[in-house]
Amino acid sequence: MRVHVADHPLVTHKLTLLRDRSTPSPTFRALAEELVTLLAYEATRSVRTEPVRIDTPVASTDGLALATPLPLVVPILRAGLGMLEGMVKLVPTAEVGFLGMVRNEETLEPTVYAERLPNDLESRQCFVLDPMLATGGSLIAAIDYLFDRGARDVTAICLIAAPEGLAAVERATEGRDVTIVLGSLDARLDERGYIVPGLGDAGDRLYGTVAS
Ligand code: PRP
Ligand code: URA
Repeated sequence: MRVHVADHPLVTHKLTLLRDRSTPSPTFRALAEELVTLLAYEATRSVRTEPVRIDTPVASTDGLALATPLPLVVPILRAGLGMLEGMVKLVPTAEVGFLGMVRNEETLEPTVYAERLPNDLESRQCFVLDPMLATGGSLIAAIDYLFDRGARDVTAICLIAAPEGLAAVERATEGRDVTIVLGSLDARLDERGYIVPGLGDAGDRLYGTVAS
């Protein structure tokens, strides 16, 4: 598993605003979108391309185009939806599939409650979007889901991760082509499975609280 933690003052600046408990939802949503666009630049470093020959107004030249099948972006509902616009801004021709997962806040076990993905992910490059990698349970389940459908490699973009969760993902995905791109690797998990210092519940901060 490859891990890349962004080392850029703009990422840290935007994450600092995002973490602040006084940042309201509209600003939080705008910041999440901006952060994803910055992280997506790194996450797509190995996006598959094919050579193309084009004519400029001056001469013929060689260039690159995204290879087919096109990359598949998979936001994990609900909080991952807040990252989708930022990702498709950078890769507007990517296709989008959806996975709905929720973590049981008592057991911390994730369950899948919705899915809308192409049936066959054979040789697809998948980009998973989820702002928080806490225990890692949700991301491990999402990665399993995509590889079971035939995905060739999975890159996850997460705004914040806990070391415990990152280690769990590494153990669970051994031998698979997995890359994790992070805005920050935080200190630890607390006793409720929240990332410390983190930003709280990402879904609630994006969209308001839902009754369970
Ligand atoms: C959050 C977050 C991740 C998960 C991370 O989603 O968006 O999917 O928790 O926790 P884990 O690493 O311990 O599995 P949540 O289950 O709160 O659902 P939501 O997006 O609907 O708020
Ligand atoms: N999910 C969140 O939204 N935040 C955390 O800190 C952990 C899981």
